Amino acid sequence: MTNAFLSLSYLLASILFVFSIRGLASPETARRGNVLGMIGMGIAILATLLSPAVEEIWWVLGAIALGGIIGVYSALKVKMTSLPQMIAAFNGLGGLSAVFISLAEIISGGQTWIESSLGLLIGAIAFSGSAIAFAKLQGLIKAKAIVFTGQQLLNLLLGLGTIGLTIAFCLTGDVKLFYALTAVSILLGFLLVLPIGGADMPVVISVLNAYSGWAAVGIGFSLHNVLLIIVGAIVGASGAILSYIMTKAMNRSLMSVMLGGFGAETKTSGNSNDEDKIAKSGNPTDAAFIMENANKVIIVPGYGMAVAQAQHILKEMADDLMKDGVEVKFAIHPVAGRMPGHMNVLLAEANVPYEQVFELEEINREFATADVAYVIGANDVTNPLAKNDPDSPIYGMPVLDVEKAKTVFFVKRSLNSGYSGVDNPLFYADNTIMLYGDAKKITEEIVGALEQK
Ligand code: TAP
Repeated sequence: MTNAFLSLSYLLASILFVFSIRGLASPETARRGNVLGMIGMGIAILATLLSPAVEEIWWVLGAIALGGIIGVYSALKVKMTSLPQMIAAFNGLGGLSAVFISLAEIISGGQTWIESSLGLLIGAIAFSGSAIAFAKLQGLIKAKAIVFTGQQLLNLLLGLGTIGLTIAFCLTGDVKLFYALTAVSILLGFLLVLPIGGADMPVVISVLNAYSGWAAVGIGFSLHNVLLIIVGAIVGASGAILSYIMTKAMNRSLMSVMLGGFGAETKTSGNSNDEDKIAKSGNPTDAAFIMENANKVIIVPGYGMAVAQAQHILKEMADDLMKDGVEVKFAIHPVAGRMPGHMNVLLAEANVPYEQVFELEEINREFATADVAYVIGANDVTNPLAKNDPDSPIYGMPVLDVEKAKTVFFVKRSLNSGYSGVDNPLFYADNTIMLYGDAKKITEEIVGALEQK
């Protein structure tokens, strides 16, 4: 393959990646976006394989086959609720490959010292940071923030150490300094993510995703590979934008997330009074009666709906209510569930029309005019402490104003807290009725009652 043809293929692949990202921005076009991305990647891989730079083609094909089999197997096996871990693992592998490529480049006498150092530094942090994020999300280590005295000072010193080692290596070319940089960067990645609590993990994963993109830019420069530079920059920039959007949705600054501590053991002022309060509970038959006689029902899905896989029966419930003339809408909080767009994906899988699904800003005012808020497996995203308790760790996060509806049903198995570990005072509110049980089972019973007429 000639260089001109290679450049043309890379250009085409890059254009497809840009359109892919654009498509992924909305649920309606996400599938098309995915397909465009796959075609772009196919073209990029094929063009690279045919380029004169590839000498040991069989090793490369073997690695692609092995990686491909592992990738397809894990994508088919992974549960939707475990996707964040999988993304963390893939980010980490991206970072690790940047580390290996940089090491190979320097050990083989490459002279791109600055580029390789940057690729290595960022790739190593992405690798070890993602390993901790994976372990936290998989429950291998405590999800809560792990903090100790002097942690931030230690991180600062290690950060300065990486800068010092990078400069020293670039001035001397001493490979030992490069090895030291590898070790310090890996340690820094571990320590940077340890103090970050579970509730902030999606942001961390998105930040690490951006890092792996910037690491690819670094190795793209050291390998003189334009496609790696372009794709790395796209991943780096879109990861950074997504991180910004997520922190905005939680009303937190990126700096406060990355400095950590959120989600560590904290006592919220809302907890103490709740001990004397009593939460009212109801049954699915009564809930069916109240909802079929309502004018407007707003459904708020959360992580528990995903666990119970209740989205299909929920759609059936919405359809039954609409047949009875009830207006039914779905309200999605930007961080409901365990990954960006989690609820949108599940509702799309159950064929809930997009027109019925609303984002927080679009629907929040409508709770005041709703007869029922049906909160199914959601908790943190409705917690009013985020609005009125400055001591609460979730203070400042925008939440769905479900309490403004005439009646609020909470479908969950207990009064336990959600991901952030913060109790929800809404369970004890006068207009709240708890429907205790598995989200799918309770909704099935409601559908049974609605259809028994
Ligand atoms: P959560 O606050 O985590 O609450 C989910 C609730 O679902 C739990 O309180 C649990 O209560 C209930 N539940 C679990 N299994 C259930 C089942 N089978 N049937 C019925 N209920 C069940 O969820 P949320 O409101 O969706 O908020 C998301 C939280 O996760 C936020 O704190 C967010 O910051 C964090 N987070 C978000 C993401 C992204 S990007 N979406 C990623 C990681 C973390 P019971 O145990 O009483 O049943």
